Amino acid sequence: MFIDPWSSQQFIDYKRLRREFGIEEFNFKLPDPQKLFRRNIIFGHRGFDTVYDAIVNHEKFAVLTGLMPSGKMHFGHKMTIDQVIYYQSLGADIYIAVADLEAYATRGKSFKETLKIAEEEYFLNYIALGLKPEHSQIYFQSLRKDVTDLAFIFSKRTNISEMKGIYGFKDETSLAHVESPLVQSGDILHVQLDKYSGPIPTVVPVGIDQDPHIRLAREFTRRVSFFSVQQTDNGLGIFIKPDNNVAELLNTVSDNLKKIGIKEIELNIPYKALYIKNFDFAKQSVIEKKLLEIEKQEGGYGFYLPAATYHRLMSSLDGTRKMSSSVPESYISLSEEPADVKKKIMNAKTGGGSTVEEHRKFGGKPEECSVYEYYVYHLVDDDNYLKEVHDTCKAGTRLCGNCKKEAIEKINLFLKDLKEKREVAKEELDKYVRFN
Ligand code: TRP
Ligand code: SF4
Repeated sequence: MFIDPWSSQQFIDYKRLRREFGIEEFNFKLPDPQKLFRRNIIFGHRGFDTVYDAIVNHEKFAVLTGLMPSGKMHFGHKMTIDQVIYYQSLGADIYIAVADLEAYATRGKSFKETLKIAEEEYFLNYIALGLKPEHSQIYFQSLRKDVTDLAFIFSKRTNISEMKGIYGFKDETSLAHVESPLVQSGDILHVQLDKYSGPIPTVVPVGIDQDPHIRLAREFTRRVSFFSVQQTDNGLGIFIKPDNNVAELLNTVSDNLKKIGIKEIELNIPYKALYIKNFDFAKQSVIEKKLLEIEKQEGGYGFYLPAATYHRLMSSLDGTRKMSSSVPESYISLSEEPADVKKKIMNAKTGGGSTVEEHRKFGGKPEECSVYEYYVYHLVDDDNYLKEVHDTCKAGTRLCGNCKKEAIEKINLFLKDLKEKREVAKEELDKYVRFN
């Protein structure tokens, strides 16, 4: 199995994705979880533990995500913003990238075009959906030098062959396309620079298609860090990566660890290593945190390894692939006209029987129904009512015609309200959008 972030590939077998790519199952008990969390739509993560600790200990954390405004903003994009807004309610610093460099490189969009789409469609919807201006910012990849500078620094830590291996790039692939995941790593890590939030646990909520980019960003984080920490036979090993000042650095680490009560420390300078014997592994995250502080003091970045969560992607309305901005029939946009909503939902693929009689007799299959996806992901907050929709569909007492009608009403009501909120949001843009 191969993940291509720029295709419209749909993923169904989430267990296999977890198994093959080492994504961990998401089962953190978050406070007052948003419905995407309650319903296992967010099914996996990498490294969310640091963020979870920050949340439960009421410490600062950051959320960064990016959207490529290459067409209409639709219900698939809304999922990402819903999560961002939930994290904002928990006190996170919020960063949303306008992936205009990526849109230029991979979709052939001019910067002018992207800017227009972003302002008219995306930003107003972020605000209308409930994003608050406090501790949040929307920025453009192309305008933020800190992001592109990091991308350049990361580019020194990889090579063409590795990029080909990850993404299947060909000899003909443009270098701008090759660069766009490096810029994405810049997005993800720049929030930890002092000018922004400083070193801080960071989570990147994304669709599963973005996993290759996440793995790359995490790999760069390791490559630029001063230390690597490994469990050894009888304790913990801390290894220094830079070649300069090794002895000094080892002594600094040793002194700092002693101060926080770590005993049985042994240095091996030729090996650029420090070992802690009889180590209590429950303290590993404390040590890792300390090392980041030391790295920072010593002139390094001190970046926390960025975490990511993965959500399932909504399918296209015909059920054959994922929703995609370049295929208007595949999605409902957040500015869709009521009549078009009706048309699109009426034509959508359901999990219903081929005739009413069959449906009544054998029941429907909500898990194969693209309309039911709207109920689960967006339209119904009340878990009990959702269960009722599910169970009556399965029992065959809920008929697709009525069920679609109900979905259309709910969507149109929601979109009408959103439209009004977008009007108000027009006055608010300055509070959110940064041009640097
Ligand atoms: N690659 C993402 C997309 O295709 C957009 C993106 C750019 C992004 N930078 C990011 C996503 C940083 C998450 C984090 O939509
Ligand atoms: Fe889908 Fe509703 Fe039909 Fe069930 S009854 S298959 S949920 S449209």
